[in-house]
Amino acid sequence: MTHAVTLIPGDGIGPEITEQTVRVLEATGLTFSWDEQQAGMAAVSAGHDPLPDGAVESIRRLRVALKGPLTTPVGGGYRSVNVALRKEFDLYANVRPAVTVFPGRYDGIDIVMVRENVEGLYSGVEHFIKVGDDQRAVGVSQAIVTRYACERVIRYAFEYAVRHGRKKVAIVHKANILKMASGLFLEVGRAIAEEFAGRIASSDMIVDNCAMQLVLKPEQFDVIVTTNLFGDILSDEIAGLVGGLGLTAGGNIGASAAIFEAVHGSAPDIAGKGLANPSAQMLAGAMMLDHLGETAAAGQVRRAITSTIRDAGIRTRDLGGTATTREFGDAVAARLR
Ligand code: NAI
Ligand code: MG
Repeated sequence: MTHAVTLIPGDGIGPEITEQTVRVLEATGLTFSWDEQQAGMAAVSAGHDPLPDGAVESIRRLRVALKGPLTTPVGGGYRSVNVALRKEFDLYANVRPAVTVFPGRYDGIDIVMVRENVEGLYSGVEHFIKVGDDQRAVGVSQAIVTRYACERVIRYAFEYAVRHGRKKVAIVHKANILKMASGLFLEVGRAIAEEFAGRIASSDMIVDNCAMQLVLKPEQFDVIVTTNLFGDILSDEIAGLVGGLGLTAGGNIGASAAIFEAVHGSAPDIAGKGLANPSAQMLAGAMMLDHLGETAAAGQVRRAITSTIRDAGIRTRDLGGTATTREFGDAVAARLR
């Protein structure tokens, strides 16, 4: 069976890490039909929109995309294509697994963060209030939390736990203070936890305690589900626990499409130099394989990456090694053949 996938190489280091990722995915023996599309700076330089219709149509048709990082100009220019894609396809769950790959400060971490991806404090319902002559005396950003969005993201987290043989889900909130926005999330979370009782254990935890527990005893966590802002912050904390940006990937999941990508950006400082670590993009590829039902191949890709880094000691510069992006890709692909 051939898997048809939209492929967006992206900006900066995007094309280099995507090239190695495609090689590695094909080295599993699976066949893909890649529909390559441009977006971001690459599209703008070619005289198109930052999010061309062709890219949107491709994702709509194929329902699964592997995407490289896209540069977002700071101050002015166009708006974030990543945010636009989330909105366009209503990608309501951001899923970020974090597993110890590189032995570092912590070992044995295996956490999946499921973050609500479209509302909460990121709803964009904001305004300034004028006081006297000061137009911007007060800034107001509202957290919009709907029962609908809580239900679908929390249900996704529990179903993910069942599907992946996970044991427990922690519902992370701040319902003691944000009694409505966070209170609703917790209320819905507890109700869904009831439905899964006996299959998946669950607990709820206040976000500040969760931040501390992650540093003190990260191995206690399995799946975590939380609202947008908390998930944004905690998922970066968790990425730090397992060795940082070069090793973490995520999926943006909606009912009609899913887009997989590395967590890091386009790294313009090292673009085109063969210094980028393609592991995160390869791990995004592995998540995509899981999503396509190719769980055996996904496991093989993950093991090949871990064994390259950990056992063979082949590492790119960010992990203290000397391998180029391509040499690292060679080593991972060789382990799969
Ligand atoms: P960045 O993640 O691109 O880079 C931060 C630092 O990490 C840099 O020193 C970079 O060299 C290093 N780094 C990142 N990925 C690496 C890799 N695979 N291997 C080795 N080193 C790596 O973050 P920054 O500089 O804040 O953003 C650059 C651009 O990327 C911006 O335009 C930003 O908007 C965009 N961006 C895009 C994302 C996406 O498309 N999902 C996510 C984050 C940022
Ligand atoms: Mg973030």
